[in-house]
Amino acid sequence: MNEEFSITPWEVKGKIDYERLVKSFGVKIIDDNLKSLIKKVFGEIPKLIARNIFYSHRDLDILLNEYLNGKKFYLYTGRGPSGPMHLGHILPFIFTKYLQEKLSTMLIIQMTPDEKYVYHEDMRPSEVYNYTIDNIRDILALGFNSQNTYIIDDIRNINFLYPLAISVARKVTFSTARAVFGFTPETNIGLIFYMAIQAAPAFIGYFISDEYKYCLIPAAIDQDPYWRITRDIAGKLGFPKPAQIHGKLLPSLKATGKMSTSEPESAIYLSDDDDIVKTKILNAFTGGQPTAREQRLYGGNPEICTVYMYYYYLFEEDDRKLMERYTKCKNGEILCGECKEELSRRIINFLSQHRRRKEKIDDEYIEKYMIDSKVNLEDQIKKYLLLR
Ligand code: TRP
Repeated sequence: MNEEFSITPWEVKGKIDYERLVKSFGVKIIDDNLKSLIKKVFGEIPKLIARNIFYSHRDLDILLNEYLNGKKFYLYTGRGPSGPMHLGHILPFIFTKYLQEKLSTMLIIQMTPDEKYVYHEDMRPSEVYNYTIDNIRDILALGFNSQNTYIIDDIRNINFLYPLAISVARKVTFSTARAVFGFTPETNIGLIFYMAIQAAPAFIGYFISDEYKYCLIPAAIDQDPYWRITRDIAGKLGFPKPAQIHGKLLPSLKATGKMSTSEPESAIYLSDDDDIVKTKILNAFTGGQPTAREQRLYGGNPEICTVYMYYYYLFEEDDRKLMERYTKCKNGEILCGECKEELSRRIINFLSQHRRRKEKIDDEYIEKYMIDSKVNLEDQIKKYLLLR
């Protein structure tokens, strides 16, 4: 039985069927063969891949084989600053940081205030601006390397993006964009053009350094429509098609859908204080029985439990301990109360460390990452366009 769900880069509704997405998006599952190749490159299978949280891809196999032949790739990811960040939002960044560290590779992070401004027609420019800075601070608090991490803020750095974006836009027809994104006659033309802005960083890395022959985009799977079009036109502009590795969305604490910004109770925000975390976890949807007696008798169901999912996604690295929790729950040896209390403790601990790191990140710190304080590409990009 398939519950209905819908997923676009801007909104997710219902319970996502990830297997079905693979078919409808035309992407590939990361299978055992690819996992062996990943192990060859990384010396291990990254936890988030082993647990099938980053679970599908486009051309990752090709990219890794090329890598083994000495051809390096850079990473590109991003964030749309529509509000404060929650745990689900930082999951792809945690994964990206792992990739960057393991391969000592260049990373481009795109901040898209323009996207959120055109999508949320009631958002004021000052709000989007403030979230951009706040979100950058949350992202940098994860500890990205300032040497080879470049932040592009679409508004501040439009001069870097525009020449590439306009050459992308010239190759994308309205009928393609409408088919891929589901645009309607009511869609504003800002959002229609915006896709070209999100495509640009998939090529801009080649102007920063000729060390890199390819681009890999780690992102949540809801971003895939952007990459389908970007890949379509890459060849026409003389660039390699960017490869992708797609992540699942951290489940909502309320049982259906991903953590959503519109429903604050369903997510843990990085700014939530200890009491709020405790209350949210206390009220989370579990796979437990209604009473302790029944729980002991029949056991719980970790498969549908959002508390268990939090351990699985972020808060239990140790596979053996995770399995133990699973089995104990099934056997009724552990009650939801204990499981929730321990999870709250771990989340509170994570958040307090996160906030301590975030406090140190001021304007001066951020400047070290901004693309315009690191490189000047304008001439190169313009020249590239003139040659075409
Ligand atoms: N559209 C993304 C969002 O709404 C932001 C984004 C821009 C992005 N470029 C990206 C996300 C590259 C992942 C990878 O959050």
